[in-house]
Amino acid sequence: MNYFDWDKRYIFQTYKRNPVLFVKGKGKYLWDNKGKRYLDFLSGISVASSGHCNPRIVKAIKRQSEKMIHVSNLYYTKPQIEVAKMLSEISLPGSRVFFSNSGAEANECAIKLARKSSNGKYEIVAFKNSFHGRTIATLSATGQKKFHKGFEPLLKGFRFAEFNNLESVKKQINRKTCAVMIEPVQGESGVHPASKDFLKGLKKLCKKNNLLLIFDEIQCGLGRTGKIFAYKNYGVEPDILTLAKSLGGGLPVAATIAKSNIAKALGYGSHGSTFGGNPVCCAAVIEVLKTVNNKKLLRNIEENGKYFILQLKNLQKKYKIIKEIRGIGLMIGIELNIPGKDIVGKCFQKGLLINCTQENVLRFLPPFSIGKKDIDTAISILSDSLV
Ligand SMILES: Cc1ncc(COP(=O)(O)O)c(C=O)c1O
Repeated sequence: MNYFDWDKRYIFQTYKRNPVLFVKGKGKYLWDNKGKRYLDFLSGISVASSGHCNPRIVKAIKRQSEKMIHVSNLYYTKPQIEVAKMLSEISLPGSRVFFSNSGAEANECAIKLARKSSNGKYEIVAFKNSFHGRTIATLSATGQKKFHKGFEPLLKGFRFAEFNNLESVKKQINRKTCAVMIEPVQGESGVHPASKDFLKGLKKLCKKNNLLLIFDEIQCGLGRTGKIFAYKNYGVEPDILTLAKSLGGGLPVAATIAKSNIAKALGYGSHGSTFGGNPVCCAAVIEVLKTVNNKKLLRNIEENGKYFILQLKNLQKKYKIIKEIRGIGLMIGIELNIPGKDIVGKCFQKGLLINCTQENVLRFLPPFSIGKKDIDTAISILSDSLV
């Protein structure tokens, strides 16, 4: 028996894994058990954005885990309160934070908060092709039938509008609507950034109809788009913001951030999480935020993203299978007019990690520390893999 066989025997077979056993990570690289090195342009799907085993994060985790790993949310702990203060100050002025462990849970909290703070209104307008998580509520908010199959009946109270289409949103609003929930850049659906006019219009529409605006920045937040939060590219502030993935530098931690007049609707005993805001995770978050909320780094992300897209556009001239290139910052997708699976496989063989979503969109979510040389390497491998 080897690990691949044990996986098949002992683990729920919910993931189609690549045939590799990773044993080590450092910065932008991963190594498998045979010593082969891979350039990671996926970052664990936007998690290891600050690099694998970032020394500052490792040190903070080590220091905190030697001191105290867990108490309970029945007590105060320093790292959690420090992170809440940092997040509140850099995200939504006058906001408060609820901590949980995953993106789905952060969105679950946002959904509960939207309902609880809306005096009996409970419907949420979400978007076609969105992805908000795998719990029943977040699955119900996800606008893709393929994820719903076999799990019905789903939670009622979600309606779906066309992304980037304000008229379509208007049609879904009624007297029961309490909120609109959206990814400013849809990730899983194949990297679709919202247009500026659309998000601005959405904000106005929410104000007019007294609806909460929820931004799911679980994939696109925390520097990924070249701004600390994706919404800063649009000049449109949400009422509720959800974060996870890269927040803990690889540790499971998530945050639901809401303006305090809204957050107060979840009072004592109305919501909770055993591990949420755990001291070790929060010690990691402090270092992540210090690393990422840095003008120079954010500028590099923006510039490298532009350079990457330019190089991809050059490739597009050569390869007719590239239909469209979309992206913002270092969140980039290439839509192909053929399935992308084999290309991902070829890149993998050549030591480059990317993935394919929606069958035909190659997705790139590299760590923030990459430079032009790494982009050139990735482009060269991709070019060899497209033939
Ligand atoms: C935009 C978005 N929301 C929510 C989630 C769910 O996060 P998690 O897998 O941590 O529950 C994801 C995961 O890919 C995501 O991309």
